[in-house]
Amino acid sequence: MASEMCGRFIRLCLGGHRIFKYIILIALILTCTIAYFINESNTSAERVDRIHAAPLVSQPHEHPIGKLIVHAQAEQRRLLSRQSHNLSMAMMRYHERRGRRPPPGFDAWYKYAQKHDAIVVEEFFDRIYDDLNPFWTIEPRELRRRSSPWAHEHVISVRNRKAILKTTHADPMGRMPEWHRLVDELAQWLPDVDLPMNIMDESRLLVPWEEINDRMQQEAAERSVAHLSTVRTEFTGLPSIDAEPEDDHFDVRWELMGPYWDLLRQSCPPDSPSRNISSIDIYHDAIDMPITYPRHSFLGYVQNWTLARDPCQHPHLRSLHGTFIEPVSIKTTQSLIPLFGGSKLPRNNDILFPPAMYLSAEGVYAGRGDQGPEWTQKKDGVIWRGVASGGRNKAETWMHFHRHRFVQMLNGTAVHGSETGSLPADGTTFKLPTQGHYSLVAPRNESLGIWLSAVTDVAFTRLECFPLPPNPADEALCPYTNPYFVLRAPIPMHAQYGFKYLPDVDGNSYSGRFRAFLHDSGSVVLKATLYCEWHDSRLMPWLHFVPLDNTFIDVYGVLHFFLAAEDNGAHDELAESIAREGRVWANKVLRRADMALYTWRLILEFARLCDDSRDVLGWIDNLES
Ligand SMILES: *[C@@H]1O[C@H](CO)[C@@H](O)[C@H](O)[C@H]1NC(C)=O
Ligand SMILES: *[C@@H]1O[C@H](CO)[C@@H](O)[C@H](O)[C@H]1NC(C)=O
Ligand SMILES: *[C@@H]1O[C@H](CO)[C@@H](O)[C@H](O)[C@H]1NC(C)=O
Ligand SMILES: *[C@@H]1O[C@H](CO)[C@@H](O)[C@H](O)[C@H]1NC(C)=O
Ligand SMILES: *[C@@H]1O[C@H](CO)[C@@H](O)[C@H](O)[C@H]1NC(C)=O
Repeated sequence: MASEMCGRFIRLCLGGHRIFKYIILIALILTCTIAYFINESNTSAERVDRIHAAPLVSQPHEHPIGKLIVHAQAEQRRLLSRQSHNLSMAMMRYHERRGRRPPPGFDAWYKYAQKHDAIVVEEFFDRIYDDLNPFWTIEPRELRRRSSPWAHEHVISVRNRKAILKTTHADPMGRMPEWHRLVDELAQWLPDVDLPMNIMDESRLLVPWEEINDRMQQEAAERSVAHLSTVRTEFTGLPSIDAEPEDDHFDVRWELMGPYWDLLRQSCPPDSPSRNISSIDIYHDAIDMPITYPRHSFLGYVQNWTLARDPCQHPHLRSLHGTFIEPVSIKTTQSLIPLFGGSKLPRNNDILFPPAMYLSAEGVYAGRGDQGPEWTQKKDGVIWRGVASGGRNKAETWMHFHRHRFVQMLNGTAVHGSETGSLPADGTTFKLPTQGHYSLVAPRNESLGIWLSAVTDVAFTRLECFPLPPNPADEALCPYTNPYFVLRAPIPMHAQYGFKYLPDVDGNSYSGRFRAFLHDSGSVVLKATLYCEWHDSRLMPWLHFVPLDNTFIDVYGVLHFFLAAEDNGAHDELAESIAREGRVWANKVLRRADMALYTWRLILEFARLCDDSRDVLGWIDNLES
């Protein structure tokens, strides 16, 4: 910013009188050089603090979105104030938050973090402990059996500081090589470990709530900081598991049948709204979409991103998301076994790893690493292209699928059809907000659809029919959805960055484009998901991206707030700030080094869990002993 201004001044001066030209020029160059060095000499940590201390909104807005943005800034400042700038601070925060000693190897881990200028806030790693804590109630020997290569199809092992890949079944998406490469980069610092991986899109484990609750309570009660005199600082290694006779291996009993909702709700707390609500009859029941403000929202807008995504809090999601209608594949169990994967529903017991798609530099969803244009060069609109995935949609069930609803709700013609009653009921996936909600001007005179047509370009590229049309030439089409959707050509990710608003919704599980959108696009990401990922505690909704409810009922309010000139006027400058903050932040906390650090910490913790000496294994600060 400073250097940009200096450049402009220098160019301006060059046009002036020759006598003054050189004097002014030299003075300016000096000033700018000094300013530049002062700027650069600040530590990266201070720079981050400064970026986030700058208020996005000069005075709090009356609109709920303005208030949510102000709140998010405050939350981010609070989080950043808890940043650790040295090893002893990192250790102290660990003790404080985890109630244990850090695992052996914590110092090398922290050194790597420092070397890569990583922002270390202990809260960023909460997910690891939420995922692993129930496993402390399983004996180490049994955990080793349950994670051993004998028991699983896809396993990454570390032995003698090398990562070994074991894949006995097809891995069509090429996920194992990406994960293997990451673990191998870190293997020189890692203890022996076996990591069974889930290569499917769908998440897998759903242990009933009562069992998990008991295990969490037991773990919390037994958690302690090992006394210094008893601490062991070396992992035992895994010779025993490698010597194990093959007939003693653990046999996972996978269930291959749904309905997934009925398995899921058993993992919901007994007093949660979804617990006693059974799955719908997918072939006969109509969609059940609430048309008032979503539960736990702030005047209609997401205020608690955790609650907004929890299906236990939103029973209607059983009829509004492909995961609960018909996932492409189900392979699940109610027993607690270690299984690592890229995403999961809040109630799944899978252990999260950074998704393979985020680790691939060439993948479709990496967007080639291209950067989006300047904000002012972007089109004032919404772009989305994708396939009609999200599960196996059929003639009787497609109205329940989230992607179909999303595309229809952002299709101005379809919305206008709904406003005027011309969209046939059996071809409708959504309902519009009730009158008076979201204080939109347009719906008052049936012009929401017309307005929407001017700002959105949202379409499927394939309809993913089941069964597929007999003629291979028609594979992108689908007789039962053709009347409601027109296919448009795919647009590569980097070309989508030319629009200011990039919505991102679930596919069969999480969406692989989220990281590149944040990291590279410089546009505002509008995000709806049911799925948890490794990065959740390091991204702040309303500061780094705009969260949406899974019904998408809030999307009109959101688009109106940012784009519509009516009412309070468009808030383009706020949108630009979110886009900028999102990109700056993603380039600090979603880098490959950050994913490596997360994975490294996770593996140290899991290896400790599997070690017979786990209760006394820990890292000791030299100053302590
Ligand atoms: C670590 O950082 C904290 C707070 O920033 C500081 O008080 C402490 O002196 C530092 N410790 C060392 C060993 O540098
Ligand atoms: C669900 O049913 C159980 C058993 O009948 C009952 O104890 C519980 O309170 C119910 N939960 C809700 C949210 O209604
Ligand atoms: C969101 O709700 C959960 C569950 O009630 C709560 O634990 C958490 O602190 C809330 N998060 C925020 C950011 O308010
Ligand atoms: C609906 O109302 C808005 C705002 O008052 C106005 O700009 C627009 O032209 C109206 N549309 C129609 C179709 O009457
Ligand atoms: C939008 O909706 C109309 C009406 O249902 C439909 O004919 C059209 O194909 C849809 N457009 C897209 C891009 O799906």
